[in-house]
Amino acid sequence: MKSHHFVSSPVDSLQGDITVPGDKSISHRSIILGAIAKGVTTVHGFLDGEDCLSTMQAFRNMGVSIEGPVSQRVVIHGVGKHGLEKPENVIDCGNSGTTMRLLAGLLAAQPFDTELTGDQSLLKRPMERVSRPLHQMGAAISTTKGRPPLLIRGGQSLHGITYEMPEASAQVKSSLLLAGMYAKGETRVIEPGLTRDHTERMLTAFSYPIHKSGNAIVINAASECLGTDVIVPGDISSAAFFIVAATIVPGAELFIRNVGINPTRTGIIQILKRMGASIKITNKRLCGEELVADLYVKHAPLEGIDIPAAMVPLAIDEFPVIFVAASCAKGQTVLHGAKELRCKESDRITAMADGLKILGIDAEALDDGIRINGGVIRGGVVDSRRDHRIAMAFTIAGSVAKDPVTILHCANVATSFPTFVKTANKVKLNVQETNDA
Ligand code: S3P
Repeated sequence: MKSHHFVSSPVDSLQGDITVPGDKSISHRSIILGAIAKGVTTVHGFLDGEDCLSTMQAFRNMGVSIEGPVSQRVVIHGVGKHGLEKPENVIDCGNSGTTMRLLAGLLAAQPFDTELTGDQSLLKRPMERVSRPLHQMGAAISTTKGRPPLLIRGGQSLHGITYEMPEASAQVKSSLLLAGMYAKGETRVIEPGLTRDHTERMLTAFSYPIHKSGNAIVINAASECLGTDVIVPGDISSAAFFIVAATIVPGAELFIRNVGINPTRTGIIQILKRMGASIKITNKRLCGEELVADLYVKHAPLEGIDIPAAMVPLAIDEFPVIFVAASCAKGQTVLHGAKELRCKESDRITAMADGLKILGIDAEALDDGIRINGGVIRGGVVDSRRDHRIAMAFTIAGSVAKDPVTILHCANVATSFPTFVKTANKVKLNVQETNDA
């Protein structure tokens, strides 16, 4: 298989004014709700990364007419709640856990059978976290020892349940809410901690009633989604790489415009600020149901901290690059309560600890987190394990390393941030791409 690598060389400044591509979580949800809505939905700022294109293709295969993306604009001709058609083939979710888990909930309630599969990484990821509660609702889903492919038997009549999620997962919550839109009675999902609430906000934008009481979210089948206009803000998970870069490169100064700052996603800002980062949030505004702002980030010296476990779900995708920040901080940073990082696109605890050690950082993988002593990042060769966020995190490490850092197997950066290298070089990072056979 052809492989794509990055070489990130040290820089002595970072400056610029950038935007980042649309939010991945919101882009997925805009397609899902747009497809089952009555009427037309227009999405602006859609992320045309491979993960969201997997979701889009899945709905095209189920008979939904979708135009675009052209200049990040997508037009979805919704087929209504009961208008999806049986796909002719297996649905390929690619690298995208969000596609597979959210679709599992929706497809469990359809009158036809479906099969969901994915790439080598996705085939290893746990799916019983959605299949178990969906079974309780009356769904018929089979897995292979809890992993994909998922075989979903249609024609089941679902009923609402009260489900206390054992893991703080927005994907599980969203999967059950989508199933709950077809279930008899009420579906109540109780979160152990706050997780991203884009599904709830987007349901509201599509005029579908949803009720929140304490840490429970309640939905029933009595309504329909109505097509609407969705404006997708820039993805804070993509901005995260540049927030950290601007924090650790001496003399750096960076504006990042139009970033989603939904409070269930801003753990990265809180954590970095506790470490001493200089991040100013300006021009706060509402964009549909989502909060958006411009960020101004300046270089600042960092100090190691104990990251509070309650912040874990609020920064879950940002930890690889937070670990790079911790490697540049004075003293020790410790994270616990983050076992979930072991079942992302790679085992992100092992991937980061191993790579940081190669680059000369004293990092120790813990069962549920990591311990990092800040130090000097050396050059070297690290493996991203085909995980987009590991690849981008080590690219940022390279910008402050003593010598170039080569990051292997970076093709999956296209799943979430296809323009990453271009944006990096625009702010004067020094990133080269290479291919080998
Ligand atoms: C996501 C939820 C999170 C996150 C993922 C996107 C979503 O996963 O890591 O990248 O869009 O709902 P979990 O639900 O597994 O925490």
